[in-house]
Amino acid sequence: MTLTSTTRVELQQLAAQYPQPRSALLPMLHLVQSVEGEVTAEGITACAEVLGITAAEATAVATFYTMYKRDAVAKHHIGVCTNTLCGLLGGDAVYDALSARLGVGHNQVNADGFMLERIECQAACTHAPVMTVDWEFMDDVTPGTAVAVVDALSRGEQVQATRGPVIRSFVATEHTLAFPLDGLAAADNSVDDKMLAGLRVAQERNMSAPSIPQEH
Ligand code: FES
Repeated sequence: MTLTSTTRVELQQLAAQYPQPRSALLPMLHLVQSVEGEVTAEGITACAEVLGITAAEATAVATFYTMYKRDAVAKHHIGVCTNTLCGLLGGDAVYDALSARLGVGHNQVNADGFMLERIECQAACTHAPVMTVDWEFMDDVTPGTAVAVVDALSRGEQVQATRGPVIRSFVATEHTLAFPLDGLAAADNSVDDKMLAGLRVAQERNMSAPSIPQEH
C-alpha cells in the first residue's frame, strides 16, 4: 500500500516530538505499519528520509524488534505466550489449537488475514496462560476459549479484551502505538485481586524496596 500524504505529515509530527528526531523511529515504524499492516521498504525509506538517516539504519531497527512485521497482517495478530509459566499451564496446547484452527504456524498469516505468533513473556504471568489479540490481553485462556475468540472475530463479532478495550484490528492498535494519547490506555482497566497479591503480602510484612544508592 502506498503511504498517503497524511501519513507523511504524521511522520513529520512524530519526529518533531523529540529533541533528537531519530528517537521517533520506533513510533514512526508503528505508524507505517498501521497503514501497511507491515513495515515495507517504502515505509522504511519514508522514515529514513524524514529523520535524515540511511535506509540501512532504519532497516536495522525494523528487523531487530519482532513487533515489526515483514508480512502484512490484514486483520488480527494472535500472540500466544509459550514462555515458562504459560507453557507449563497450557500455553503450548493453546498454541497448537490455534495453529490447527488458523492453518498456519509461527509468524505466518492465513488467507483470512490472521497472523499467529509464539510470543515471549508479556509480564502477565498472574493470568497464565495468556494470549494477546492485537496486543490486548486475553487472560487464563484454554485451547477451547482461545479458538472461540478467533471464531468470534472471524464472524465479525465484538470481542472484549480481558483487560483493555474492545478488540479493533491490528492496524488500529499500531496507530495507537504511534499516537498513544487516544484515551484507550484506561479503557476497562481491570486490576484484580490476583494482581495485587504480592503487594498485599509486602504490606502485611512491612516490606519495602531497598533504597537506591546515591551517586557521588
Ligand atoms: S510466562 Fe507468559 S506472561 Fe509470563
